[in-house]
Amino acid sequence: PDIQKDVVRLKEPHVSGSVFRLFLGGEDTCMLDPLQLHTLTSCGFNSSNPLIIITHGWSVDGMLESWVVRMATILKRNLVDVNVVMTDWLRLAHQHYPLAVQSTRTVGKDIAHLLQSLQVRFTNQLHLIGYSLGAHISGFAGSFLRGAEKIGRITGLDPAGPLFEGMSPTERLSPDDAEFVDAIHTFTHERLGLSVGIKQAVAHYDFYPNGGDFQPGCNFHNIYEHISDYGILGFEQTVKCAHERSVHLFMDSLLNEDKQSMAYRCSDNSAFVRGICLDCRKNRCNTLGYNIKKVRTARSKKLYLKTRSRMPYKLYHYQFRIQFVNQTEEIKPTLIISLQGTENESGELFITIDEGIRENTTLSFLITLDKDLGELMMLKLSWEVSDMWKNVWTRMQSIFLWGGQESKPQMMLGKISVKAGETQDRTSFCSMNNDGQQIEVAQDKVFVRCKEDEPARHRRKHSRLVQIN
Ligand SMILES: *[C@@H]1O[C@H](CO)[C@@H](O)[C@H](O)[C@H]1NC(C)=O
Ligand SMILES: *[C@@H]1O[C@H](CO)[C@@H](O)[C@H](O)[C@H]1NC(C)=O
Ligand SMILES: *[C@@H]1O[C@H](CO)[C@@H](O)[C@H](O)[C@H]1NC(C)=O
Ligand SMILES: *[C@@H]1O[C@H](CO)[C@@H](O)[C@H](O)[C@H]1NC(C)=O
Repeated sequence: PDIQKDVVRLKEPHVSGSVFRLFLGGEDTCMLDPLQLHTLTSCGFNSSNPLIIITHGWSVDGMLESWVVRMATILKRNLVDVNVVMTDWLRLAHQHYPLAVQSTRTVGKDIAHLLQSLQVRFTNQLHLIGYSLGAHISGFAGSFLRGAEKIGRITGLDPAGPLFEGMSPTERLSPDDAEFVDAIHTFTHERLGLSVGIKQAVAHYDFYPNGGDFQPGCNFHNIYEHISDYGILGFEQTVKCAHERSVHLFMDSLLNEDKQSMAYRCSDNSAFVRGICLDCRKNRCNTLGYNIKKVRTARSKKLYLKTRSRMPYKLYHYQFRIQFVNQTEEIKPTLIISLQGTENESGELFITIDEGIRENTTLSFLITLDKDLGELMMLKLSWEVSDMWKNVWTRMQSIFLWGGQESKPQMMLGKISVKAGETQDRTSFCSMNNDGQQIEVAQDKVFVRCKEDEPARHRRKHSRLVQIN
């Protein structure tokens, strides 16, 4: 399609099918009429302040979802000198999904017209936040505005998937729609070839919390129960949990300034859970939510992180690398690890290694904790095996009495290191008494920072990677 042709002209009369309300606080809003500019002054719109426009998604019941006003309240309370406007396109959103989809470009045009009549400073001062279909609407609004009118930022909160997945960039939210576009994907779980949230990257930075597929605390197994209890609304409740998580993650970034969630660029989630992606060089990591570092990139970057199941969602990410030199048998051990840092300790963490450990392999995995341990000082490690392996060993021991001595299975470890994603510090661990790195089954062994890895030498200024701009 010819984009140029679509660029809106202020002079053209335009009757908006959408309603725009300036949020004043509490329950109070004031309707903005783009054709009657005096409503701006009477509503208290302050054109020297930034403008944020929140746009809702598809509506099953024709009611404005409660998160919209909550988001407006949080934005207003945290940013103070800001105009917060809510797009109400419920009349068009409350239709069969394909019809609602057909209206998205029109609603985008309504927003573009509003912006032109408000004559706000677009690039620095304008931020559109859209949820589900509202994300694509925000994208369409941006596609009508070019050059000096280009929108500063668009945030897509779990942009809708059906009828948008795989479409060309002009048919959905895309990085061209604003100077900077970010998206949070929270419900891309596919069923019958469809996913509620779009899977593909649509922004400069695309965040996939917990893989983007589904979210902790949202119980998928309850879906059938919910349907039998509440009918189609039960389905809605279940779907909404993961879909709407994108909204709550964004709010979290405003509500918990000291707990900004960090995400890391990775090829996919299975690589991420192996812990190999906790790297921040060359803008490979960024902050999820409002305080994102706005770096324009040529290509979309996919970022991954783990979160808690409730607010504050932040988790701290640690990559463990353990080298296994040799062991008595090929085994599938469970490792029991606890970490102690200057600020706190982790408690016992159980890691089951499903791939059998062969000689001379280095294993890498990701551990997440909901507290900051500070600088890592000590690591305690032991290992166990399943009952089946125990039986094998017990039998072997009774057959061969090794020189009359009982011999327990041993494991010889090589290098052990832990990298903290949030600080980018890597710590190597050595056995405490320099008594070698072998561990018998069920033996607790303590490791400390290796000599050459003392904190004093290693301590960088903890330039926290959280950037607030
Ligand atoms: C607009 O907001 C600014 C602060 O950003 C304030 O100084 C100014 O007085 C406000 N104007 C009106 C008309 O309220
Ligand atoms: C493991 O390697 C160490 C040193 O390379 C060696 O002394 C030890 O016998 C080996 N153990 C087993 C069970 O192979
Ligand atoms: C360690 O973490 C726990 C929560 O798991 C918290 O209650 C405690 O205050 C923390 N200790 C320190 C020293 O910060
Ligand atoms: C372990 O691997 C390293 C590098 O891959 C190699 O240099 C070393 O000889 C290997 N050791 C054993 C015992 O296979």
